[in-house]
Amino acid sequence: MTRNLVQAAYIVSAVLFVLSLAGLSKHEKAKEGNAFGVTGMVIALAATIWLAASQSANALLTLLFVVVAMAVGGSIGLWRARVVEMTQMPELVAMLHSFVGLAAVLVGFNSYLEGGDAGTGVTIHLVEVFLGVFIGAVTFTGSIVAFLKLSARIRSSPLMLPARHWLNLAALVVSAGLLAWFVASHSVVPLLLMTVVALAFGWHLVASIGGGDMPVVVSMLNSYSGWAAAAAGFMLGNDLLIVTGALVGSSGAILSYIMCKAMNRSFVSVIAGGFGQEVSLGEDKDYGEHRETNAADVAELLRDASSVVITPGYGMAVAQAQYPVAELTSQLRKKGVDVRFGIHPVAGRLPGHMNVLLAEAKVPYDIVLEMDEINGDLPGTDVVLVIGANDTVNPSAAEDPGSPIAGMPVLEVWKARNVVVFKRSMATGYAGVQNPLFFKENSQMLFGDAKERVEDIIKAL
Ligand code: TAP
Repeated sequence: MTRNLVQAAYIVSAVLFVLSLAGLSKHEKAKEGNAFGVTGMVIALAATIWLAASQSANALLTLLFVVVAMAVGGSIGLWRARVVEMTQMPELVAMLHSFVGLAAVLVGFNSYLEGGDAGTGVTIHLVEVFLGVFIGAVTFTGSIVAFLKLSARIRSSPLMLPARHWLNLAALVVSAGLLAWFVASHSVVPLLLMTVVALAFGWHLVASIGGGDMPVVVSMLNSYSGWAAAAAGFMLGNDLLIVTGALVGSSGAILSYIMCKAMNRSFVSVIAGGFGQEVSLGEDKDYGEHRETNAADVAELLRDASSVVITPGYGMAVAQAQYPVAELTSQLRKKGVDVRFGIHPVAGRLPGHMNVLLAEAKVPYDIVLEMDEINGDLPGTDVVLVIGANDTVNPSAAEDPGSPIAGMPVLEVWKARNVVVFKRSMATGYAGVQNPLFFKENSQMLFGDAKERVEDIIKAL
């Protein structure tokens, strides 16, 4: 009876998780999506705790353990979530993934020690245990390395061991051999040996990936943590954990793919690593002179414009310029100017970075468009304001096949009638490549901190 009710609750939770993901994929529905997710999780937790209590000899003691563990974990989580800076988000996420990996390893060993059913079920159970521990161990050490790199506790350049691809391959082959031994012998020895191999494999896999690819790696580890949870679900016979793990696993994989596409990197080359070492690009090409402008002139330009597109980038986040940008947007809209935003999929330092900042500053969602939605309209746009963006608006990606970012889709801002670039200097962006946009005839540079300059324009307006 209890089991049936719990199963029913799990199905409700699983549906809520699917609705949550569907909601989170649209700005307007993100809050609703979050509410679905929270409700699903509350139902899942309540059902699981109830099941655990009803099955144990001492229900009160079980409840006490659960409450104490949740109070400790919940308080730490709440504290971290409150103090974390937006720019530290990727490293926090990496750290959280390592916990999922560790949990999968522990569940795997526990499940092995408890033993499974007799007969063919045993083999299946052993394979589940083995795969769960393997994925968990890789996720655990991989996430720790990602955390250390992202928080600059270790160098972010890739570790280039000789024959590193062969080392990875050897780890996989040895693990496959250990699986066969494990299934045949039921002994803990191959399981322990594989755990050591998988821990080293996870460490090496991420250590050999350079800083530039780290965000893709975090999203990839997110995916692994989902599969680790799904594997734990199989071991524990918990359907909800299987469904949830699969949702996390596949959405992480899709996100990794989208990010790779937006950075024009192949997924396989990111995983294989060895890319992203600091290359100094000794560029001596003459791009000509750039033109400088000032806030008063930009205000004039905006007053005469009928359409304006703002393309923000990492610099807007650094300057915390989203609030004056929102204010400028609302002033221009009141004057009847059509203002919209064009967001590049990898603008900033984590997926959705710009969207979160703009939402925080209460910019209406319906004027925040994605790169593909806005690119076609740029040739007919009067003014584009490039606020702290660089690589994501670099024409060499589209025009120079020899450029390191060649082929990366970009916001084609240079096609607009006027472009104003807000930045502090002529320095390059994240990819370290020169940007010919700054030297185009229709471009002007507005130097200084993006927040201060936008405030100056608001004053001048
Ligand atoms: P970037 O190319 O990094 O350019 C940011 C620009 O902002 C810089 O040129 C910088 O120039 C300017 N800036 C910095 N602080 C500023 C301030 N206070 N006021 C005004 N300007 C300021 O940024 P992007 O266009 O957003 O491109 C993102 C890059 O990061 C891409 O190369 C992308 O591949 C990479 N990346 C993205 C992600 C994700 S998932 N979003 C993750 C990792 C890496 P000055 O120094 O001259 O001011």
